[in-house]
Amino acid sequence: MATLIRKARVADSASILELVNALAKKEVMLPRSPASVIENLRDFIVIEEDGQFLGCAALHIVWSDHAEIRSIAVKDHAQGRGLGKQMAEFLITEAKSLGIARVIAFTYVPGFFERLKFERVEHASLPHKVFGDCLNCPKFHACDEIAMRLVLSDEAEIHLRGPLSVPLSALPSPRSAGAAL
Ligand SMILES: CC(C)(COP(=O)(O)OP(=O)(O)OC[C@H]1O[C@@H](n2cnc3c(N)ncnc32)[C@H](O)[C@@H]1OP(=O)(O)O)[C@@H](O)C(=O)NCCC(=O)NCCS
Repeated sequence: MATLIRKARVADSASILELVNALAKKEVMLPRSPASVIENLRDFIVIEEDGQFLGCAALHIVWSDHAEIRSIAVKDHAQGRGLGKQMAEFLITEAKSLGIARVIAFTYVPGFFERLKFERVEHASLPHKVFGDCLNCPKFHACDEIAMRLVLSDEAEIHLRGPLSVPLSALPSPRSAGAAL
């Protein structure tokens, strides 16, 4: 059987949501909303066999030196065949090619990530920026996921300069923005 890992397409979003949210009901991972899947679709890869969707995973850049593996999931009947590992390795290679120094994951299955040479770390040892999306998490006040980290290089954080947000007054008016198109 031919196994293929590829970037996700819009047509995969329903399969991704169905798989992740079915597993979330079993409380083995966090749920995703349709908006969070479709808005972040470019983070996602899928794994398929003979064209049949078997799993998904996402790599989300959280800061200049951190990317997070999220929503890694394999259909029940295909688990334990190395598909999860293949997807994680694909995303780790992608992180390397982007020049990202550290890959992290928050998980209930630390053993899976340990097989990939991740180590357990204290939540408090990670930079605050990696917790930005936690505000939207149903477990925000009682996070019980284990933080894991894989160090790919010693590259330090690249300090980005600029305002934290752009004041509305700095934006072009709709009329002048339209004129520029
Ligand atoms: C976790 C999950 C993605 C792993 O995918 P998989 O295809 O079943 O795992 P693989 O066959 O690739 O396993 C790779 C290695 O990890 C180990 N492993 C897999 N699941 C494990 C687990 N739950 N605990 C400990 N080790 C695990 C395997 O034994 C294997 O070890 P090996 O390299 O020595 O052979 C999959 O089981 C799954 O979808 N689980 C439910 C959702 C979930 O928990 N996702 C993680 C959210 S962060």
